[in-house]
Amino acid sequence: MQEHEPVLLNDFISLVAPIAGCWIDGTFGAGGYTRALLENGACKVLAIDKDSSTKVFLKKIQNEYGNMIKFYNHNFADIQKNNDITCRDDISGVVLDLGVSSMHLDNPLRGFSFKESGPLDMRMGNQPGPTASDIVNRCSEATLADLIFFYGQERKARKIANKIVRERNKKKITTTLELAEIIRAIVPKNLKKDPATRTFQAIRIAVNNELKDLSKTLVFAEKILRKGGIIAVVTFHSLEDKIVKDFGKIMSGKASSTNRYSPPTSKTYPSLVAVNKKPVVATIEELNRNKRARSAKLRVYKKVSDSSSKFFPTMEFPQIELGI
Ligand SMILES: C[S@@+](CC[C@H](N)C(=O)[O-])C[C@H]1O[C@@H](n2cnc3c(N)ncnc32)[C@H](O)[C@@H]1O
Repeated sequence: MQEHEPVLLNDFISLVAPIAGCWIDGTFGAGGYTRALLENGACKVLAIDKDSSTKVFLKKIQNEYGNMIKFYNHNFADIQKNNDITCRDDISGVVLDLGVSSMHLDNPLRGFSFKESGPLDMRMGNQPGPTASDIVNRCSEATLADLIFFYGQERKARKIANKIVRERNKKKITTTLELAEIIRAIVPKNLKKDPATRTFQAIRIAVNNELKDLSKTLVFAEKILRKGGIIAVVTFHSLEDKIVKDFGKIMSGKASSTNRYSPPTSKTYPSLVAVNKKPVVATIEELNRNKRARSAKLRVYKKVSDSSSKFFPTMEFPQIELGI
């Protein structure tokens, strides 16, 4: 299996320094962030990944760091259910490097690639369903259109949804290349991006419940952090980045009282402060080395209150019922 090259890792390490104590890496992947945390001073990393195939990268780190690393094969949104983690106030940091890994994209059998043919799957973890095939072949045309429009920010969403339904009425759509060809017949060619990019992103977000899991996790991350602890998130598209940015604004008491979010009410505010005012993006050197860094943004927050907030903020994001 080809190893994943971590994105914005050096920026992360320098922004959160000095590193100490126990960290949660919610997106273990090939272990790049976990290893860097251990190399730079963390005394323990609780590493989470919903994809059990990432365990192949665990052995090497365990050989070097022994029980300084503990791995959990579950959804990071379930951190509040994990007995080793819940209610600990000695967590020094939580990092999420979101999205898919190179291992997902490079293995056509996982169904994320529109370059090579594979089954329409797109599940990052071992969850029972739905798969991309369930969404493409069973969702109503209106749901497909909403999903592609809101999660993919694709202007041609209605036309794509209509074409998908016409094609699946002739024959079930079973492979990633069949789906990509349907989209390419509607979306004009573009030198920078494959026309299928946005629609594939939309379906992947729906399959993996990505936006809801992220917003739930941020809320619990703040609750388990000690004072001075860090929440760092690398996002890859504007929907994710908006959730992180809104969360940071709400928890640092900066959400405008005229917007639709509840004003901060708890006495513990502000609970977080932004370490970097503007999100960190990749340098030209990193972009030349690693194309995946193109849309990456890193936001880092530090907990400044002694106690955890009693407040459960809600971040707004499009939520589409699949109806299947
Ligand atoms: C971009 S990769 C992380 C790469 C990693 N930071 C590294 O340095 O190798 C994202 C990883 O997060 C995992 N992941 C995504 N969403 C998750 C979730 N809700 N719960 C647990 N793991 C998740 C994916 O399976 C994938 O392995």
